[in-house]
Amino acid sequence: MTTPVALSPISRLDGEVRVPGDKSISHRALIIGALARGRTYLSGLAPGDDVAHTASCLEACGVYVRVHADGRAMVEGSGPELALSQPRGPLDCANSGSTMRMLSGPLAGHPITAVLDGDASLRRRPMRRIAAPLEEMGAEVHLSPAGTAPITVAGRRPLRGITFEPPVASAQVKTAVLLAGLFADGPTTVVEPAPTRDHTERLLELCGIEVIREVTPGEDRVTVRPGAVQPFGLRIPGDLSSAAFFLCLAAARPGWRVLCPGVGLNPGRDGVLKVLGAMGASVAVDARELAGGVGEPVGDVEVRGAALCGTRIAGALVPRLIDELPVIAVLATQAEGITEIRDAAELRAKESDRIADLAAGLNLMGASCEALADGLVIEGPTRLRSAAVDAAGDHRLAMAFAVAASLATGAGSAQIDGAESVAISYPGFFEDLASLSAGRGH
Ligand code: S3P
Repeated sequence: MTTPVALSPISRLDGEVRVPGDKSISHRALIIGALARGRTYLSGLAPGDDVAHTASCLEACGVYVRVHADGRAMVEGSGPELALSQPRGPLDCANSGSTMRMLSGPLAGHPITAVLDGDASLRRRPMRRIAAPLEEMGAEVHLSPAGTAPITVAGRRPLRGITFEPPVASAQVKTAVLLAGLFADGPTTVVEPAPTRDHTERLLELCGIEVIREVTPGEDRVTVRPGAVQPFGLRIPGDLSSAAFFLCLAAARPGWRVLCPGVGLNPGRDGVLKVLGAMGASVAVDARELAGGVGEPVGDVEVRGAALCGTRIAGALVPRLIDELPVIAVLATQAEGITEIRDAAELRAKESDRIADLAAGLNLMGASCEALADGLVIEGPTRLRSAAVDAAGDHRLAMAFAVAASLATGAGSAQIDGAESVAISYPGFFEDLASLSAGRGH
């Protein structure tokens, strides 16, 4: 049992916060670095438990990984022939879907057998979406009868190059298939129904792999040719998904403000900025390329609060803000009118059922939030009140509820159960929230 975090409403948010390194890029940088022969040097590695588990799974496959407390890391791979060696026991991915899905790809291209397992939440998440393409490529993949972890991947070399059309837009699935494609006998293509974050493509290009992209309306096609990954150096930008909690909080009240310097602005991830603008907040982006890095766009983002209006989020915008939807829903409780979130059934297959658990918590706090099969309808503005809510052990729900608790009115404090889960992606979240809401920043 853990103690719920108590959080009282704040009266002002103003300041600057440097959020931790990007989690999506950190997983990929460690895995791709592990596939190279030689040393890859990283800085700004995401500090949370998820990325730590990618590092420890790689170590269990014989890769030398050194992670420093300040976010620097070094990965020394012995690839490409046998970059990953036979692990002695199951690979513990803990709560991290990214670790499990992305690592399955390169494991499928190694003549070893690995079992990937995780915690109760990860054991509920759908894994057929990676098993199907990896089997088509020639690996043997076993799942539980429900199509979930533990996953056994018996790899082979070479795999068959395939053209894969995933039924759901998922950057994790795309990554698994493209990384398996490095070990195939020919090109491997992923055709996505809607564009997703392209960190993997950018990193592979940096590492000397040929990546061919063909983007036409309604179809995003990416092909990799098999090849040997070169080691690289990378400064990982701040995580826009972590910044989103403060950006949305600042947006909620006229006179509030936050500046998040040096965050990643990958076009597959920046939907939250579009939505903040559409709702009426003032969003200023000072963008620049990441010097000497991977060609990821990066910049300083400042949001100032305003009287907000509801908005509609659906279609191809959804993958561009999938992780930000919980905090966007919180913000919608403060906006005039209806906010409708559709085409987001994927939210039910995240670390928790984010549609049901979010609606339950927000309604306990006084919101008007209806859960739909594929989204949420929120009517605002409502005066949120402090209540006891359950984040269901889901880091993004814990932080979204912390934003809601900060926006509550009246006496008392909200109790957030499962709030320790912030350690998954943002261990210093509550400290940063406290320093910003005191108007000090850091
Ligand atoms: C991620 C992709 C998204 C996202 C997850 C991180 C990634 O998941 O929700 O937090 O780094 O590729 P899906 O690939 O399942 O859409």
